[in-house]
Amino acid sequence: MTSPDNITMEPVISVAPMIDITNVLFRNFMRLLTRKTTLWTEMITTSEILNTPHLDRCLWNDPKEHPVVVQLGGNDPTLLGAAASLCELKGFDQINLNCGCPSNRVQDGKFGACLMLEPELVRDCCAEMKRRVQIPVTVKCRLGVDDHDSYENLENFISIVSSSGVNEFVVHARKAILSGLTPTQNRTIPKINYEFVYRLQERFPDFKFHINGEIATEKQGIGRHESIRQQVERGLGVMIGRVAYNYPWLFRNMDSMYYGVPDQGLNRREIILQYAEYCDRYLEESGSEWNKMVLAKPLMNLFYLERGNTRYRNELDRLSRNKETAHFSAVAEQIVDIMETVNPEALNQFDIEETGKI
Ligand SMILES: Cc1cc2nc3c(=O)[nH]c(=O)nc-3n(C[C@H](O)[C@H](O)[C@H](O)COP(=O)(O)O)c2cc1C
Repeated sequence: MTSPDNITMEPVISVAPMIDITNVLFRNFMRLLTRKTTLWTEMITTSEILNTPHLDRCLWNDPKEHPVVVQLGGNDPTLLGAAASLCELKGFDQINLNCGCPSNRVQDGKFGACLMLEPELVRDCCAEMKRRVQIPVTVKCRLGVDDHDSYENLENFISIVSSSGVNEFVVHARKAILSGLTPTQNRTIPKINYEFVYRLQERFPDFKFHINGEIATEKQGIGRHESIRQQVERGLGVMIGRVAYNYPWLFRNMDSMYYGVPDQGLNRREIILQYAEYCDRYLEESGSEWNKMVLAKPLMNLFYLERGNTRYRNELDRLSRNKETAHFSAVAEQIVDIMETVNPEALNQFDIEETGKI
């Protein structure tokens, strides 16, 4: 794997922060597929962290989850510093500040993507977080917002923020449009432009950049690694969002492909059963009252592209709605029995030819 001479950091593949997806359950599920990929929390706001009566549950992470990044939402240096400090105590490996979310809720709170219009404030937030913690502080941003979308604007943002000492950035390579688009539209309508990220990388050769946005999506060939590899070969970290949720099986050989270490090698049967065991233990230890449908969510796309996928999803949904099943492990055993008759190869083998191509 080639990389620019001045960058020696190992490639970093990461699963993007996604609200209502990358919770503690999803992260532990992903760990059964890959040991090395960096995992992220959902965005957690400073007020959630500083006001919760259940801090343990709010910042729950398990030793197996590492490396794991906590993403914070907020715009007040003091509150962010306090929240970052609690996150460090709870064992996270990195603190990230969200400067990319365009939702109305986030805009009302004046954080997320609209912070790209206030680089000096982001600098101050980062400086205070860095003062409060030993672990790295990083920023996730867009290419810009609204008509503040020139390369020069982006470079200026990075330049000002980096004067806080932050030198690692995740760039979702499209701008955010702050009015008139839903968050979902804001992840599809503004055009992807990887060139700006490549230019940043040239301009700031000592910084680490992670590129994000439609890498390994359908257009680029889901289930194939060309687009990921291309970015890694440029010395960029690669962050993958929706594909990680829609096609988690893609991650089964990330460790051998990008980190040169053996893969977990678990088949889908083992993943389902071990994940369910984790869920039952987590509920008991954390006191969380998540229902079985929430527990089933990370498993929903495990047979994507495989024969029997629709049947699997329907059966998993039906089983997890059954109020008489006490433990999620019982749901897991039943779905495994069903898939044993529907598609035993996909259930029991680690490496099989992909049956579907998009
Ligand atoms: C359901 C969902 C929730 C998201 N929540 C967050 C979030 O909490 N913080 C954040 O920085 N980005 C969030 N994102 C954006 C992703 O992190 C990522 O930047 C975006 O999906 C583009 O990457 P992709 O094309 O690989 O999906 C979310 C995306 C989705 C689909």
